[in-house]
Amino acid sequence: MTNKIKLLLKEKNAVLLAHNYQPPEIQEIADLCGDSLELSIKASKTDADVILFCGVHFMAETASILSPEKTVLLPRQDAGCPMADMITPDALTAKLKELPPMPVVTYVNSPASVKALSTICCTSANAVKVVNSLPDDEVLMAPDRNLAQYTAANTAKKIHFWEGYCPIHDRLTPEDVQKVRQAHPDAVFMAHPECRPEVLELADTIVSTSGMIRYAAESESNEFIVGTEAGLLHPIQKANPGKKFFPASAAMICPDMKVITLEDVARSLEFMEGVVKVPEDIRVPALKAVERMINL
Ligand code: 13P
Ligand code: SF4
Repeated sequence: MTNKIKLLLKEKNAVLLAHNYQPPEIQEIADLCGDSLELSIKASKTDADVILFCGVHFMAETASILSPEKTVLLPRQDAGCPMADMITPDALTAKLKELPPMPVVTYVNSPASVKALSTICCTSANAVKVVNSLPDDEVLMAPDRNLAQYTAANTAKKIHFWEGYCPIHDRLTPEDVQKVRQAHPDAVFMAHPECRPEVLELADTIVSTSGMIRYAAESESNEFIVGTEAGLLHPIQKANPGKKFFPASAAMICPDMKVITLEDVARSLEFMEGVVKVPEDIRVPALKAVERMINL
């Protein structure tokens, strides 16, 4: 299957991008693995004709926003993101009517139609930087309330937030972390900003998925508790073979990030199945918000 995919990638002049949460066998055949920010930048720079995205729907949409001339494939249309589904353009428009005029900073984990109504996008790797780049004193952040509260704690600006969350990160509790800490007292606790504020309070560092890989490599510690989706254990262990990694909770598995199989990838490439194309009336305004972030 791997050989078939490699041949198809060449034949179609395609690039395979995989998020850090994808199953190991998918990460192993990818041209690039990374966090949301790295994948957005890579998708904006590639000269391939086809981008095959192994991730979830909003990631393929972002690739389509940045590369309208390319064919973007998501091998499974049922790979969504429950947090992205917690916001709609109509609901955002209604919320903005209740507030004084202010910019909207939208997490990339959102539908393209919501990005189209936003001032600028952000990822978990750059949320504070993005908010601080704006001249306004008040900002609405959507859809992740945990990322918004983390940002609020690290900026002088007033942050209004949307009541969305990632069900996978939001389920991690301080008790879960304390249990793993008791079993591994020397381990450093790394948390993703999608976790709840009371969990982030316990963290030694708060970073994106690729931020965790870099932090573990640069740290003098040898043991780490990984406070994010379980898929990260594969690339972080691979990049740091001499170090030990423990999941903060066995329950942190995102089913949407696990649906794509090698067979799906091969079928999608062979028959150009699973095309994701953002319509121009949404793409053009969404591009402004995504490009503003990338330029920053
Ligand atoms: P990052 O890879 O940007 O840290 O995102 C985490 C995530 O939940 C993506 O769905
Ligand atoms: Fe969405 Fe959370 Fe899954 Fe990421 S881990 S795709 S934010 S549900």
